[in-house]
Amino acid sequence: MDIIFNNVSHSYMKGTSLEKKALNQLNISIPSGSFTVVIGKTGSGKSTFIQHVNGLIKPTEGHIKVGQYRLSAKEKRMDMRSLRQDVALLFQYPEHQLFEETVERDICFGPLNFGLSAEEAKVRALESLALVGLPETILGDSPFHLSGGQMRRVAIAGVLASRPKVLLLDEPTASLDPQGSQEIMDMFKEYQRTNGATIILVTHQMEHAVNYADSIIVMNDGEIVLNGDRDQVFGQSAILQSLGLELPDSLRFIKKFANAFSLADVPSYYQRDEVASYIAKYIRSKEG
Ligand SMILES: Nc1ncnc2c1ncn2[C@@H]1O[C@H](COP(=O)(O)OP(=O)(O)OP(=O)(O)O)[C@@H](O)[C@H]1O
Ligand SMILES: [Mg+2]
Repeated sequence: MDIIFNNVSHSYMKGTSLEKKALNQLNISIPSGSFTVVIGKTGSGKSTFIQHVNGLIKPTEGHIKVGQYRLSAKEKRMDMRSLRQDVALLFQYPEHQLFEETVERDICFGPLNFGLSAEEAKVRALESLALVGLPETILGDSPFHLSGGQMRRVAIAGVLASRPKVLLLDEPTASLDPQGSQEIMDMFKEYQRTNGATIILVTHQMEHAVNYADSIIVMNDGEIVLNGDRDQVFGQSAILQSLGLELPDSLRFIKKFANAFSLADVPSYYQRDEVASYIAKYIRSKEG
């Protein structure tokens, strides 16, 4: 499903003394089947932005098209249930997602709500648990007695259980350890590939943008400051720095190395092994 933002603005508490403009005239097109990573410092509007895509928040100005759905302040009747079946949102905080007494009921909620039988929903729950790397034995537990990482995985299983065409993921790996984080990111990429799904993922980790994104959006103060592939975005190091954002580790290191040895024209390397082989080649050239 193509996603198009057309002059979209959003103000919280509009018309009060606490009014806050969180999105300012956004225009962006996100093609169906693509993996978009959204970065930006805290408070830049990332969560507000993705919550517009499933209609959780309505624009105060402008409109959004998500496939055949159209969302705007004026839209009177919208079939939210069918929109949310296609477009699933993983909240930034799993406590905002989970509400049932058991993990099983939580994961089955979406599929049951969208018309699957109890048996079909249970099959979905088991498949989704396997995708997020949790054992079946967790099904009877209360989601609120789990560790932060387990809660996050259950919340992810819940959004996957409806097999959405569009996945909106707000800092999905925030409470996972580095290995768990990579496994879950790989799983999202595989979900995108095998289902032709569209993914929009918010993160503070630049390595996620480097390794998984087809396209990167950089937000600041409710606006899209940069948008493009990793070379287009991370090539703008001065802009990123001025926004308080860091470059990916490998790129930062190779730039420092080039600086220390006064080397010009060092390519942008994003992977550690590329950096290592560049340095090895450089040292060998000096030895020879
Ligand atoms: N419910 C709300 N009511 C009022 N203002 C809000 C509300 N939610 C967010 N804001 C404000 O809107 C702006 C954007 O917030 P948003 O949560 O979208 O940022 P974010 O980029 O997701 O930040 P973070 O990285 O901390 O999650 C911030 O200034 C925030 O204080
Ligand atoms: Mg946020």
